[in-house]
Amino acid sequence: MQRRLTFSARTAWDTSETELARAIAARQKSGLPLLDLTASNPTRCGFIYDEAAIISALAQRESLLYDPNPRGLLVAREAVAEYYAGHHATVDPAQLFLTTSTSEAYSYLFRLMCDPGDEVLIAQPSYPLLDFLAQIESVRLLPYPLFYDHGWHMDAESLRRLITTKTRAFALVHPNNPTGHFTTDTEREELESLCAEYGLALIVDEVFLDYSLEGHAGRSFACGPHPVLTFVLSGLSKIAALPQMKAAWIAASGPEPHLHHALDRLEVVADTFLSMNAPIQCALSAWLHSRAGLQTQISTRVEKNLRTLDILLTTQTMISRLEVEAGWYAVLRVPAIEPGEGLAVRLVRDHGVSVSPGYFFGFPGDGWLIVSLLTSSEHFARGISAICSLFNAIEEETER
Ligand SMILES: Cc1ncc(COP(=O)(O)O)c(C=O)c1O
Repeated sequence: MQRRLTFSARTAWDTSETELARAIAARQKSGLPLLDLTASNPTRCGFIYDEAAIISALAQRESLLYDPNPRGLLVAREAVAEYYAGHHATVDPAQLFLTTSTSEAYSYLFRLMCDPGDEVLIAQPSYPLLDFLAQIESVRLLPYPLFYDHGWHMDAESLRRLITTKTRAFALVHPNNPTGHFTTDTEREELESLCAEYGLALIVDEVFLDYSLEGHAGRSFACGPHPVLTFVLSGLSKIAALPQMKAAWIAASGPEPHLHHALDRLEVVADTFLSMNAPIQCALSAWLHSRAGLQTQISTRVEKNLRTLDILLTTQTMISRLEVEAGWYAVLRVPAIEPGEGLAVRLVRDHGVSVSPGYFFGFPGDGWLIVSLLTSSEHFARGISAICSLFNAIEEETER
């Protein structure tokens, strides 16, 4: 008798289309307009790139040589170290590993820290990037809830209760996506003291670090002191608005001998793949140096859309915006008129507006909508107006 072909249980995913994806596809097929308030790809948001400079950075003679280095080419790592110097952090290029994406950086760290079945604590709500990554590495993610009270906070004691003998690391996004809040210095100290007590590493995703809104600022975790093993992740996809270039990194720091052991082991993980290619590494310095132009355009757009949002929200009483300190998104609290993705589906079908439902990011319960502040200002204003009209109509109906 022939045995049945069996796939890994790790990859037994439900890949069927969601109702929201179906509604978006149907709307697009119908030819009716769709205002996309989920935009996250900066290369498609109408920003002006210095195309000639970006392309010419790729045409360097040095990239004709194959010089395999598990950490990445020194010239590229020096450029990343310089980026951190601009954030008042001293990062030795020897503590840096280049990767093709932040996702790849996470997967290196999961391999470094975890055996199958080990646990990593992650803040919720947050970006759902880690679910699949963890599953592929047979790592269990344990969400720890953030709570909102005039800003987002972490509760160190409830966090402590989630730690088991299998916990290996805390992962957090700083500033967080989509809540747009920075981890405070006090929270950092609490996290570090938990890590020290339980022998855990800290993984900090800082891809949005450079996008603080006016009046707010956050300190990079690459700034010392580093009482515990800390891995800061970032990359070009947000910092230079070049997600297509696939360049990111891990900046490791911490006390000895942990740091030394971590760097040694990471070197073997990275050497196993050597996934960075030469042209991108040779161009990285030029692209990092020219990031200010894009960052200014993005921040101007984000701040303008946020102002528009606040003005439009004054026309109704049912929607409120949560406080935001950084990033590319805003979180709206709306009446929970439909469960799950129902409200987002209704907005696509009946109003031609696409938004992300809160459950996508692990918000508790219903009545959360996430809108992208990257969206073109005209589409953003029209989309938010449509959402306001829906709730104004509901309010009028309930008053009748
Ligand atoms: C918080 C966060 N981290 C990482 C990423 C992915 O970055 P990369 O393109 O470097 O994998 C995203 C993408 O939106 C993100 O929001």
